[in-house]
Amino acid sequence: MNQNSRDGFSSRFGVFAAVIGSAVGLGNIWRFPYMAGENGGAAFLIIYFAFVLIIGIPAMLSEFIIGRRGQSNSYGSFKKLAPKKPWYLVGLMGILAAFVILTFYSTITGWTLEYVVLAVKDVFSSTTAVQDPKQVFEHFHTQAARPLIWQLTTMFLAAVVIMFGVRKGIESSAKVLMPLLFVFLVILAVKALTLPGSAEGLKFLFKPDFSKINSDVLLAALGQSVFSLSVGMGALITYGSYIKKDVNMSRTAFSVSITDCIMAILAGMAIFPAVYSFGMYPDQGPGLVFVVLPAIFQQMTGGVYFALLFFVLVAIAGITSIISLLEVIVAYLVEEFKLKRVLATTVATTLACALGAFTTLSFGPLKHVQIFNKSIFDNSDFFASNILLPLGALFVVVFLGWFYDIRQTKDELSNQGTLKIRLFPVFMFIIRFIAPIAILMVFLKGLGVV
Ligand code: PHE
Repeated sequence: MNQNSRDGFSSRFGVFAAVIGSAVGLGNIWRFPYMAGENGGAAFLIIYFAFVLIIGIPAMLSEFIIGRRGQSNSYGSFKKLAPKKPWYLVGLMGILAAFVILTFYSTITGWTLEYVVLAVKDVFSSTTAVQDPKQVFEHFHTQAARPLIWQLTTMFLAAVVIMFGVRKGIESSAKVLMPLLFVFLVILAVKALTLPGSAEGLKFLFKPDFSKINSDVLLAALGQSVFSLSVGMGALITYGSYIKKDVNMSRTAFSVSITDCIMAILAGMAIFPAVYSFGMYPDQGPGLVFVVLPAIFQQMTGGVYFALLFFVLVAIAGITSIISLLEVIVAYLVEEFKLKRVLATTVATTLACALGAFTTLSFGPLKHVQIFNKSIFDNSDFFASNILLPLGALFVVVFLGWFYDIRQTKDELSNQGTLKIRLFPVFMFIIRFIAPIAILMVFLKGLGVV
């Protein structure tokens, strides 16, 4: 390797696996099912899918273009593409967003590790004295130290991967973990589908009830699709900068986005049939995965094994997303401050853990600390998901649509003219008009303005 060559993804499958690692996360397995559960099941799913196609894919592609053209972290790429303009602030905002998300995303991923241990300890078995999952969940939070230890463990695991670098760490781990994740999901879905009464759950997931759809649901679906594709936080700019020049990025964005949807649907197929089969309802919000599912595992034959499989799966999904968030910050520190990778990772991880500790404790000892009438967790989630993320996504498409030289965009997208890009006018139309308006609506909605 010569001195100037950057670390990067070595193969097409490597790129695919790494980006899937980022995209498929708690958003697919924890958030998507309960959102669909609350908002009309299949109707939500159809709208969600439409948004992925119309807005998600072009937005993802825009980040890839900026990253690969800029050959740098999310700040550096904007600096290179628009040298004397303040667009680099968008890059910096992405880094801030990644940091804020890390602080609470690691909290919840940490919980899944606790649940892996609970499964191993047989807590979800019908043969041991049955414990009320709600109490288990609440008791866990009062113990302060345990949630914190799991958060640290989560971050540590991600940090180790990052220290190995892009190809040897991020890509290699994703190539193993993503297929594994897929297999786990399929096993769980098959199990759920064979439970008596599972058809009700399937009906819920696939039979649309459009009466539940209103403007709130539309914007929630759009916001969720953008979050689920990891758009708006510099992650795809950073990963885009590691994509080789001969990879067809349109194809990557398309296949990643479709796979991300499939994973979310599979998660729904693993969860809803089981929920209905045991006479429960899926509209119970965030507690679905940590309270409702454990109650089901307790009653299911072989429930312990499925519990174990399920929580290992969510942990993997969470950690690979954390890896991509951490990489946003690490790439910035390495390239802009010339820190060694190991040091940069240590600094970023330590800071995220230090701040994240408050988020984690906001479910237990710091429950009563309210800022703007919200818990610390809700504040971080709101700030990142409702403000930084839509703003980041908005500026990315506006920059590429209106302020960057269209010939350069075309050149990058077509791999210097070697690929046919028939849909280019459609792409430009979307990032100029449709995506900005739609994302702006999500932003205003998130602020409570409309
Ligand atoms: N896409 C991830 C999920 O669905 C979350 C994420 C957002 C990860 C942004 C990285 C960057 O859970």
